[in-house]
Amino acid sequence: MSSLRLRQIGKRFGHVVAVSGLDLEVAPGECVALLGPSGCGKTTTLRMVAGFEDLDEGEIEAGDRLLSSKKRNYYLPPEKRDLGMVFQAFAVWPHLSVHENVAFPLRVRKLPAAEIERRVRAALTHTHLLDVAASRPDELSGGGKQRVALARALVIEPAVMLLDEPLSSLDPHFREEMRFEIKDIQRRLGFSMLYVTHDQSEAMALSDRILVMKNGVLQQVGSPMEVYYHPANRFVFGFIGLSSFLRVSFSGGGIQVGNVPMPLAVAGDAPAELVGAGEAVLAVRPADVDFVSEGGLRGVARRRAFLGEIVDYQITIGTQVLRVQKLRHESGPQVGENCGVTFADSTWYPMSDAGE
Ligand SMILES: Nc1ncnc2c1ncn2[C@@H]1O[C@H](COP(=O)(O)OP(=O)(O)OP(=O)(O)O)[C@@H](O)[C@H]1O
Ligand SMILES: [Mg+2]
Repeated sequence: MSSLRLRQIGKRFGHVVAVSGLDLEVAPGECVALLGPSGCGKTTTLRMVAGFEDLDEGEIEAGDRLLSSKKRNYYLPPEKRDLGMVFQAFAVWPHLSVHENVAFPLRVRKLPAAEIERRVRAALTHTHLLDVAASRPDELSGGGKQRVALARALVIEPAVMLLDEPLSSLDPHFREEMRFEIKDIQRRLGFSMLYVTHDQSEAMALSDRILVMKNGVLQQVGSPMEVYYHPANRFVFGFIGLSSFLRVSFSGGGIQVGNVPMPLAVAGDAPAELVGAGEAVLAVRPADVDFVSEGGLRGVARRRAFLGEIVDYQITIGTQVLRVQKLRHESGPQVGENCGVTFADSTWYPMSDAGE
């Protein structure tokens, strides 16, 4: 049985379609990241699961329980859903100690004192907060406050945790550390997780599957490797990892990027229907570009930035820009130098596959 099932859920705010026809099943112990640009409907989806928003279409179930159903006109209030929730803002009570913040959901549920103590200790242990149990949240760092929020969500021992950009207010160093801590706690406790982020590296590091959304509509759902290596469309290609898109034209047997001829060996096999259409887009990741001294697709190096482990180049091909990244020991052109490029991997998309 899946621990969470969304069936064709949808939500409108006036004329804005925030989420439309979204399907998803989350397996027990699975982490699914909801990934997409600002305004694509990630928070709205999470709020529908949490019960803070009603549905305009569809149904949501957790385990064998119905949570919301438009058709059956059913809506279970948030406090009865037993889902753990952590949001972006440090939503902890400043006047309560860390211990009391974490105990609060259990006191509301009127659990016996001994059981409350046992569970609070366990949650504080998992989140490394035992030593500061008597402190107030304001005495903790941002990461510490977010740990309190996490402990307070864990204490109800939920089968499903909902997290909405829980790390986005932390500085980058803490962010990375907390990401692995959350993953570690999830592995130990075995809950399922729906994790909202617009940070693709966070999604890749944390999740078993990534659901990519755009304008409220699912674009692709798959493992980090699947969405990276087999993006369903140009939007997903552009959203996961770094990318360049070259506009390519086909005429009289020749292939051009603007006025620059592209050797067949660089272009590879373009699908016949795209060649027939006369133009297409070639998507390339910066790490898949190789520099060649002779031949290749010719360009000029406009920028060369040393980033430590890698060197980042901007190559102009006619009027278009190609981004290239090489390891620091690999050779590449200096700014202003002509160079040739070939592609170890690339993907063709029709010009009409609006990606941006
Ligand atoms: N309460 C509301 N009233 C009106 N419009 C809303 C409301 N909540 C969300 N929206 C709209 O619904 C769309 C989806 O918003 P949502 O907050 O779900 O996006 P998001 O993917 O979480 O974005 P972000 O990455 O910025 O948090 C947006 O166009 C937003 O303006
Ligand atoms: Mg949001």
